[in-house]
Amino acid sequence: MMKRDHGGSICEISRRYGIDEDKIIDFSANINPLGYPQGLKETIIEEFDAALNYPDIDSFDLVSGLSEYHDIGRDYILAGNGSTEFMYSIPSTFKPRKALIVTPAFSEYEKGLSLIGTKVSCFKAEEKDNFSIDIDSVCVRLRDGFDIVYFCNPANPTGVLTSKDELCRAIACAGKTGTLAVIDEAFIDFVEEESVKKEILRFHNLIVLRSMTKFFGIPGLRIGYVIAAPSCAAKMRENKIPWTVNALAQKAAVKALVDGDYIRATRQYISTERKYLKAALNEIAGLSAFKSAANFLLVRIYDRVGSNSTELKDRLTREGILIRDCSTFDSMGDRYFRVAVKKHEQNVILIEKLKEVIGR
Ligand SMILES: Cc1ncc(COP(=O)(O)O)c(C=O)c1O
Repeated sequence: MMKRDHGGSICEISRRYGIDEDKIIDFSANINPLGYPQGLKETIIEEFDAALNYPDIDSFDLVSGLSEYHDIGRDYILAGNGSTEFMYSIPSTFKPRKALIVTPAFSEYEKGLSLIGTKVSCFKAEEKDNFSIDIDSVCVRLRDGFDIVYFCNPANPTGVLTSKDELCRAIACAGKTGTLAVIDEAFIDFVEEESVKKEILRFHNLIVLRSMTKFFGIPGLRIGYVIAAPSCAAKMRENKIPWTVNALAQKAAVKALVDGDYIRATRQYISTERKYLKAALNEIAGLSAFKSAANFLLVRIYDRVGSNSTELKDRLTREGILIRDCSTFDSMGDRYFRVAVKKHEQNVILIEKLKEVIGR
């Protein structure tokens, strides 16, 4: 089954390889290259005395901000310490006995489920289909009787977007078999129109996971939330660990949500740079980048390149370039890596270093 591994471990790499943290370019975590929205740092400094009290246990202002941002009622929303919190609280709240995960996928779904002893099965998206998910086959598989099914859309690490209509078909199939459908939309902000968030009005078996980590560039603040039918959200609220969203993160997140210029600029920048990076990667002999709807690209390493993904990662790490070796994703093997779309000048360095390392 899946090994647990994550990108973004700059401190550890710096210690292990003796490279200064500010000399490392991290393509292994998919964080907005434009940084966080303007004014966030000032908000945290101004509001610092909020640290003198316990945070608002209901994250009232943040939930109001999210409610306005998505045009969805407050009862449908529950804020947490990153969306990862819910990957643990969903299993402990709903106690599924059998789970299906559409893979390759983020390792924390399985980790959260395994802690309560859920039997986990996988539905694998295959390279021969460009990793697209065949919803008809998922529906057939659901007839085996699962209590819960997990999708990530756009999928990590493949970048594949399943359309809202297709995903709704899967949620409807899950509804018929009494299966809870968890859709992780950590990367949907780049294609917001494909979000199934509004579908919670008609599907009571739907839980949407959202994160402010990637798009708003604040992995260290830890803000995620659930959008689900009030009955589901209420159950999760009852079961919630108190005060997981700290007071300063609540204030900063509210501020981030109203920065329309930043939101538009991010979508534009990622779309332009993703095009550049994909074309440049495809020009390197022996590499091939897949189509992606998110702020990262999955890359295939063909046999003519002597190194596998782990060797390539090690060689680039010594140069201060971090990429995500995908061999730790279930079923992927050692011929894939994933890179974040970063600032243009950083993307140029990635391409140069890749050429250099592969050509050696
Ligand atoms: C697909 C996916 N979902 C969720 C998360 C976790 O996000 P958060 O920072 O909100 O816990 C990640 C982090 O890498 C991810 O890749």
